[in-house]
Amino acid sequence: MKPGIDVMVREVGLRDGIQNIPVFMPTADKLAWLAAEADAGMSEIEVCSFVPPQVIPQFTDANEIAARALQIEGLTVAALIPNLKGAERGVAAGVHKLNFVMSVSATHNRANVRRSREESVADFVNIAALIRSLDPSRRPILGAALSTALGCTIEGQIPEADVVRYAVALAEAGADEISVADTVGYADPASVRRVFKAVQAAVDPLPLAAHFHDTRGLGLANALAALDTGITRFDACLAGLGGCPFAPGASGNIVMEDLVFMLEGMGLRTGIDIARLLAVRAVLERSLPGVALQGAIAKAKLPKGFRAPPIAAE
Ligand code: COA
Ligand code: ZN
Repeated sequence: MKPGIDVMVREVGLRDGIQNIPVFMPTADKLAWLAAEADAGMSEIEVCSFVPPQVIPQFTDANEIAARALQIEGLTVAALIPNLKGAERGVAAGVHKLNFVMSVSATHNRANVRRSREESVADFVNIAALIRSLDPSRRPILGAALSTALGCTIEGQIPEADVVRYAVALAEAGADEISVADTVGYADPASVRRVFKAVQAAVDPLPLAAHFHDTRGLGLANALAALDTGITRFDACLAGLGGCPFAPGASGNIVMEDLVFMLEGMGLRTGIDIARLLAVRAVLERSLPGVALQGAIAKAKLPKGFRAPPIAAE
């Protein structure tokens, strides 16, 4: 954790947020979003996906986005990877962090990355070996995300034992962080507590991160439940965009502004200047006409006299 920060929030909008938007967001607008959020204090941003451009054309400019993001002082630049080829591209681009993704739901994993779960684990073993083979100065942090860990629109309930099994497999293969994702908004606070506690116990002391979608309105309640189990790393998206294009019924991530409001209101420092964060929405309004922007704080404004805890100097 960076000094002066209690909870780390990570922007995934430039990846998850735009992967299901059919129109191409101009590269210049993506860069404006990136720069403005880094300015607002965001210290880690997932800036792109290294997937084949024919699978998701939105990421045709991944190399350029990564290169420009790497010029932003102090920003941890992360990218999603679905396979070894994606990892090779990420290493070549020089990003600081690679976030591998596989799904706990066998059918969603097949729909999303065209593999069995065991094939995805085997891929991850090869990715971890590639990362270990690099000189430490060039070695990115290796995150591993388990999507549909709290439910799947194709399979329904997902057994907790499967979540634990794949978390352990990825941890043993060499993940530096495990992210547990509610890809389609099936979780509730009780299931979050149960699954996060089980996974944490199984992979301890590896850090866990939480990735929630607000599809059924419980996103912030679930984030609070995860916080209660000791989670201090949260993904979210400006204006609550997002969703997996290969998960039926998927919709937006939890709203970054609302998450920051909740945490800072509770006295937990995120390092984010919420007023500046809210101002970044103007980039989306301009660039993505017709895309619905979510967010209670943007709509209702900050409460009168709202005071965030002071951002500590580094
Ligand atoms: N980046 C660029 N090109 C890639 C690639 C990558 N990460 N992975 C594979 N390719 C290329 C291969 O080189 C091959 O090219 P060729 O036809 O010129 O030889 C071609 O794509 C097919 O490769 P293959 O390994 O057979 O991939 P696939 O067609 O089975 O697709 C995935 C597998 C994982 C690449 C694809 O399903 C995918 O990108 N899924 C991610 C979906 C996603 O982003 N979901 C939302 C986030 S959760
Ligand atoms: Zn997501």
